[in-house]
Amino acid sequence: MGERQYPWKIAWITGASGAICGEVARLLADAGVTVAATARPSERLDRLAASSERITAFPADVLNPEELKAAAARIETTLGPIDLALLGAGMYVPFDIRNIDLAGFHRTMAVNVDGVINGVAAVLPSMLARNSGHIAVMGSLVGYNGWPENGSYGASKAAVINLTESLKLELDNTDIDVTLINPGFVDTPLNAAYDPNKKLFVMSAPVCASRILKKLRRKPYEIAFPTKVELFVKTVRALPRAVSFPLIRWFNRTLQS
Ligand SMILES: NC(=O)c1ccc[n+]([C@@H]2O[C@H](COP(=O)([O-])OP(=O)(O)OC[C@H]3O[C@@H](n4cnc5c(N)ncnc54)[C@H](OP(=O)(O)O)[C@@H]3O)[C@@H](O)[C@H]2O)c1
Repeated sequence: MGERQYPWKIAWITGASGAICGEVARLLADAGVTVAATARPSERLDRLAASSERITAFPADVLNPEELKAAAARIETTLGPIDLALLGAGMYVPFDIRNIDLAGFHRTMAVNVDGVINGVAAVLPSMLARNSGHIAVMGSLVGYNGWPENGSYGASKAAVINLTESLKLELDNTDIDVTLINPGFVDTPLNAAYDPNKKLFVMSAPVCASRILKKLRRKPYEIAFPTKVELFVKTVRALPRAVSFPLIRWFNRTLQS
């Protein structure tokens, strides 16, 4: 138990006021890990910090690289070197091809993609200087395929998957680990606007958080679940488009009916 349960002493979590990463923060703190929790200032963030003496709030906006850099620097000065950076801030907006929400698209790309690279840029220099650390990025299984009505979120998570592959390859000659976390549907406020008929194999945030942590401690490149959804999206991705497009159209119609 305690620090022995996980290989990190200090974890920095963005999106910590949210459903999934808030739960990860609590589980890590319960196991003796010191958690630095980042989100924009809010009561949710304050409540999380108040829930454990091992959780401290470091409010910052992931869209502001300077704020994130300052937060990472303060964490390292006050708590110690960041062993695990879990970059989990994210958002979803619906996508209607006949009435494109451009502001929503741009914001989704910014929070989900720029937010990740801003976090990496904030923490990587000191990890490189120490030649140690673990960067974990929240992706999503929806990033593997284009899907009707999912243009904004899907495109952002496809970019996250690609970016994380680049990070992994770039850092191959270092002792810094990189993990891409790709859950399926999780019942959280993020996707409250999503058609409930299309949320297949949905899980709760606590289930998702414990599944992440069960695997994250071994620092694999990818953590993806549920397995059925993972196999489906990766198989569809690997098929020729002449086969995958009709398959996705058929599947989407089936979900609607
Ligand atoms: N829910 C799902 O089905 C699902 C599935 C796969 C992957 N994921 C991914 O898992 C992660 C967490 O999702 P969730 O469902 O737990 O979402 P959530 O409950 O809505 O939490 C989202 C988090 O992102 C933070 N955030 C948003 N914009 C921010 C900004 N500009 N600066 C700083 N923080 C910001 C929010 O903090 P504040 O708004 O308080 O600042 C909040 O902590 C996301 O990356 C999401 O894409 C979710």
